[in-house]
Amino acid sequence: MNFPEYRPRRLRQNENFRRMIRETTLSVDNLIYPMFAVPGTKVKKPITSMPGIFQLSVDYIVKETQRVKALGVPAVLLFGIPEEKDEVASGAMAADGIVQRAIKGIKEKVPDILVITDVCLCEYMSHGHCGMLEKGEVDNDATLEVLAETAVSHARAGADVVAPSAMMDGQIGALREGLDEAGFDNLPIMAYSAKYASCFYGPFREAAESAPAFGDRRAYQMDPANSDEAIREITLDVAEGADVIMVKPALAYLDVIRRAKEEFDLPVAAYNVSGEYSMIKAASQMGWLDGERAMWESLTSIRRAGADMIITYFAPDVAQALAAK
Ligand code: PBG
Repeated sequence: MNFPEYRPRRLRQNENFRRMIRETTLSVDNLIYPMFAVPGTKVKKPITSMPGIFQLSVDYIVKETQRVKALGVPAVLLFGIPEEKDEVASGAMAADGIVQRAIKGIKEKVPDILVITDVCLCEYMSHGHCGMLEKGEVDNDATLEVLAETAVSHARAGADVVAPSAMMDGQIGALREGLDEAGFDNLPIMAYSAKYASCFYGPFREAAESAPAFGDRRAYQMDPANSDEAIREITLDVAEGADVIMVKPALAYLDVIRRAKEEFDLPVAAYNVSGEYSMIKAASQMGWLDGERAMWESLTSIRRAGADMIITYFAPDVAQALAAK
């Protein structure tokens, strides 16, 4: 296949050719839409660093879910900001906690959409760390039980999938055991397996009010320089019973997504995180980038790298654009 016998441009001449040889597609089927639930009613508080994204009270969470459901999005991912934070994350596993109320609200009005819940403690802790503190450090094993209890409380409220993101060792096994004991052996776990200590979570911490009060998360989240370690993390999660494995963030870790897809025989999710969203929105507002094309190109690259599902704040924008086609 050498020039001039082979001319790659022949199959690029027009959109019909391009459509026929396109290798990667992006559909609503691939999308999961994250939302932030806050106490109160009729609350729709803009998150300044994430244009178009809001903290929503449960009534508006239900409305927003109805909207994305109508656009064909199959799943939402819930985060909660509780009334009060403490040192033991009591809001995380309370039967009437914010996420539990949001799940019930959605299930009542929009039963036919998947509700995935983030299982972590940082939003519920006065210190903003993802686990129980012991002498100023996050105590891994003491955190496991609390995470399992949180997951079970989400399941009891009606969650369809739980997604543990605390990066504690053994968390998938602890959740699986807790869920099975509580009778939820059919409830899948989407494991944030390779979650990096990333600056791209910056805007999320405004949205979820979960910035650590001291230090950072590098003692539990992964070093951005490592990819073999991601494989070890995923191997553990698979052995402990993960049903879906996740790489997070997505765009700076496309190589890790590709390895996850090639080396494991499980569905792969990628989290197109807050900073990845905000960068495109900001550049587009400045007139420096075509925001819609930047969105398509980024999300397509995440799919091309091997992600089966993408958690993205762009989900309604993508769905709307697809519907208009
Ligand atoms: C909770 C959690 C975080 C994100 C998802 N779950 C923040 C963090 O680990 O600091 C980030 C999501 C995003 O940036 O969109 N631990």
